[in-house]
Amino acid sequence: MNLAVLGAQWGDEGKGKVVDLLAPRFSVVARYQGGHNAGHTVHVSGQKFVLHLIPSGILHPEITCVIGNGTVIDLDALLSEVEMLASLGIEVGDRLRISNNAHVIMPYHRDIELLAEARRGERKIGTTSRGIGPAYEDKIGRRGIRIGDLVDCSETGALAGIVRENVAARNRLISGAAMDWKVVLAQLAVSWERLSGWVTDSSLWLARARQAGQAILFEGAQGALLDIDHGTFPYVTSSNATVGGVCTGLGVPPSAIDRVLGVVKAYTTRVGEGPLPTELSGSSGDRLRESGQEYGASTGRPRRCGWFDAVAMRYAVRLNGIDALAVTKLDVLDGLKEIQVCTAYRKGSELLHDFPADSVVLASCEPVYETLPGWSWLTEGVQREEALPPEALAYVARLEELAGVPAVILSTGSDRIDTIFRDNEILGR
Ligand code: GDP
Ligand code: IMO
Ligand code: MG
Repeated sequence: MNLAVLGAQWGDEGKGKVVDLLAPRFSVVARYQGGHNAGHTVHVSGQKFVLHLIPSGILHPEITCVIGNGTVIDLDALLSEVEMLASLGIEVGDRLRISNNAHVIMPYHRDIELLAEARRGERKIGTTSRGIGPAYEDKIGRRGIRIGDLVDCSETGALAGIVRENVAARNRLISGAAMDWKVVLAQLAVSWERLSGWVTDSSLWLARARQAGQAILFEGAQGALLDIDHGTFPYVTSSNATVGGVCTGLGVPPSAIDRVLGVVKAYTTRVGEGPLPTELSGSSGDRLRESGQEYGASTGRPRRCGWFDAVAMRYAVRLNGIDALAVTKLDVLDGLKEIQVCTAYRKGSELLHDFPADSVVLASCEPVYETLPGWSWLTEGVQREEALPPEALAYVARLEELAGVPAVILSTGSDRIDTIFRDNEILGR
């Protein structure tokens, strides 16, 4: 059985924790989109790991990790991550496969993104400044550089011609110190030396793994509402974070995806700009941010916080064909007297039950709340369903009802062990 684990909100739902937790049931964990804009946190026995590009299965020594063609790769960030893991006792060794067709985030992509954001002024996206958008723009514009192109970094080769043109375009756009294409090319050659052993035709590699009966976990980055096609455009990332990205971003057929697990926080957060109907300002928002430690795993930016948005969740369930949910951070709601859940939006005199992905329409929507009681004792660190307060179970039951799918994992803390499994059948072995 192969399982896709993806974000069903605006990212940072706890995908890293859930992937790490489920990884031992699989042989392979594969990332299909995004880049080091992602920050996936895993806590194991008091040690914290933040993965940006390398799939969150890497902590398990028997797992092979794949970075698919749909991703964009900053070579320095990737190599630093390998080093970071080694310093924490995790050897990547030969457990990594990188698609030869994944695109490279070049140093000029970051410069171009900073300029674009500055030019947008008030209308800025609030990106992670990692060069993600411009790298995908070059891919779609058919001037991007793929990992496999680095095999020939000579100054007379085909790659040199593309680097030269792209650097010249960057220098025309950006005033100040000019970038030297030969230096850029030489840096690519150094990186290639270090990572070429991991580069392969990952679609073929995955097909062979499947033939050999190996089970694959597909790890999403970002979340459904940040999807380039279905998210709150233009306040989105530049890739398909929804389930279609698995097929295009790894070169696997739809039949390779047996189940889809959507990860949701027990409330809502968002980093960067764009509409967030249930956003709480003032002390209520601060309360969630502080007890949930809602600061970006990649950029450290404070996350915007709000109540759970069931309209957005239903949209994510529909887009992805989510079979079941993992509900994380229940413990963050500990101690609240009352908890609100948004069940519909009000737009003028209209009541909306379906999520309007248009960000202008969404920005004009007011949440319609249902109030549920908070719980009588703490859920933090609870590992058995029987030990959860009845109000917490009722809260989860209401989310299941609103989603139309069961919540099969409940998470009550950041550590691997702070978890309740409710239905193992949906999740494979
Ligand atoms: P991802 O991007 O979806 O992998 O999520 P992030 O790692 O960016 O953000 C989730 C944060 O919540 C991380 O700091 C996790 O360690 C933490 N976390 C995950 N699950 C829980 C939980 O159930 N309770 C608490 N308190 N923290 C959690
Ligand atoms: P994980 O995988 C939360 C947001 C940025 C910005 C928008 C576009 O950890 O859930 P980009 O740099 O991708 O062009 O920025 O998307 N964003 C994320 N928000 N979690 C993430 O990843 C994100 N990756 C990008 O904040 O609003
Ligand atoms: Mg994150």
